[in-house]
Amino acid sequence: MRYPEETIEEVRTANDIVDVISGYVRLAKKGSSHFGLCPFHNEKSPSFSVSQSKQMYYCFGCGAGGNVITFVMEYENFTFVEAVKHLADRAGIVLPELEYSREEQKKADKKAAILELNKLAANYFYSQLQTKNGARARQYFLDRQLTEKTMKHFGLGYANIYQDDLYQYLKKKGYKDELLHESGLVGYHEKHGMQDKFWNRVMFPIMDVNNHVIGFGGRVMGDGEPKYLNSRETPVFDKSRNLYGLNFARTARESCLLICEGYMDVIAMHQAGFTNAVASLGTAFTQGHAQLIKRYAKEVILVYDSDAAGTKAILRALPILREAGITARVLRMGPHKDPDEFIKNEGAEAFQKRIDEAENSFLFEIQVLEQEYQMNDPESRSRFYKEVAAKLLRFREELERETYLETVAKRYRIEPKQLRSLVTSVSLSLSGETQKIQPKSGVRKKEKPPNGALHPQKLLLTWLVEETQLFEKIKPYIRLEDFTEPFYHTVAEMLYEQWEQKELNPARIISRFQDEEQQRQAASLFNTSIREVTTKEEKEKAISETVYKVKENSIKNRSARLEPTDLTGMQKVLEDKKELQKLRNLHIFLD
Ligand code: GTP
Ligand code: MN
Repeated sequence: MRYPEETIEEVRTANDIVDVISGYVRLAKKGSSHFGLCPFHNEKSPSFSVSQSKQMYYCFGCGAGGNVITFVMEYENFTFVEAVKHLADRAGIVLPELEYSREEQKKADKKAAILELNKLAANYFYSQLQTKNGARARQYFLDRQLTEKTMKHFGLGYANIYQDDLYQYLKKKGYKDELLHESGLVGYHEKHGMQDKFWNRVMFPIMDVNNHVIGFGGRVMGDGEPKYLNSRETPVFDKSRNLYGLNFARTARESCLLICEGYMDVIAMHQAGFTNAVASLGTAFTQGHAQLIKRYAKEVILVYDSDAAGTKAILRALPILREAGITARVLRMGPHKDPDEFIKNEGAEAFQKRIDEAENSFLFEIQVLEQEYQMNDPESRSRFYKEVAAKLLRFREELERETYLETVAKRYRIEPKQLRSLVTSVSLSLSGETQKIQPKSGVRKKEKPPNGALHPQKLLLTWLVEETQLFEKIKPYIRLEDFTEPFYHTVAEMLYEQWEQKELNPARIISRFQDEEQQRQAASLFNTSIREVTTKEEKEKAISETVYKVKENSIKNRSARLEPTDLTGMQKVLEDKKELQKLRNLHIFLD
């Protein structure tokens, strides 16, 4: 379902981006752009730029970017359609009725109905906590040192001892069994018929970033099995994409999030003033969580339980965070079990101290690794060092690797020189291995080219938007197929089309993607940071080099994919390579 592109354009162009963003962020004009402090990450000097002429924004610090619609989506956490509606309202434009397909309509209706049910249930549990029957639950929370204010803030509640009163309550409001069942609040029991999922438990409503109640956790008061019961996944509840407490943590606008394991930990930390704490709700940490976090923070501190299970969970989460480009540190709570108990026993100040001391994730991994070896045994010790050397290779940048190498050497009593030569020898043996397992012929796995190869394509797209006459100049050399990355290719195609029609309008391209992440990606393609080039000549040189690199990569890419029997293809690649030789001396002139 979507509005016609013309409508979207009408709404977009009726809302000047500088106007709109000025309502949220203080902007100052600097050169051809407006600059301000980025609202999407924590920063002290402005790297958030808004271009009036291009009607786009981009943050050079965190990579947030897009057009005016993207901004509203990101800032207000709106969906695409919500953002368009909001901006239409702002500009006094009346939108046509949206045409949903029947299936989409049904799905959207169901989601809305379940959210409504959850809200009713949350209010019901909350009001139960205030009744006489709820005294025991309230006492439970008080015993755990929660204040009334905290209970209210988190909407904590009580599911009483009757096993179908929520069901009866919702039924009376006219909801059908089928929907009640689908919401996960009610289950079907062969003997007893419809039955509440939660009873005789204290209740924790789980909210998404928009403060919608999407599910519940319920805890027994005292001992009992299972200790926690969680809503099952429903059309509105996806455990691997939600974090408990994020609705509050995101407004803390801290550069860093504290990630822990449980409801009570989040609540205890918030109550103690650490409002940037979230929990992954009993499920393992997933890539979905990492992507979600990335929108709000660049760094996290893992605050998992001090036991072996907690350590294991940390070791599993670290590579996922690393992959997503999030820096992680690890906080240890010993001798206490979890943040809740730590704060109860030692207080907020001591906790802050632990935060400040939280160990860098790499050094934490090494520390855990050490426990697997007998450091008194020379043979075991040298195996440990070798393992460390292998891990050090993860750092591609020499300076960074050196820093860690020195720290590790000092901590584990080995000469830096010795460790360095271990790193070299491990690296050599590894490269030998990779050659062995990757024969030259045979089927090669389709793999993403390294970013290095893609960067020129990004640069070129930015230049194309920056330099209005460039398109005609590079047209003879760069064809659409030279944009080898599928997403870049899609964007390049739209850009080429606009050029052909002499209507360059990158902001329009952005709203052809409905997904925020894609809009951000598209915006980043038009905002690659271009090396400081001042003179016209430098600019021409930079562009010419970029054209060469794009072409070179494209040819490499094609010849790598070539079947050995594809003679015409081979012929073509040979011709291209000859062409490429000529491009070596290419100089593109800007008039
Ligand atoms: P408290 O005992 O209330 O302090 O809980 P905790 O947060 O210290 O609990 P624990 O470390 O045992 O568990 C952390 C999180 O894992 C909880 O918040 C739940 O989300 C989840 N969890 C714990 N026990 C259970 C269980 O029995 N079943 C399920 N499904 N999840 C659980
Ligand atoms: Mn606990």
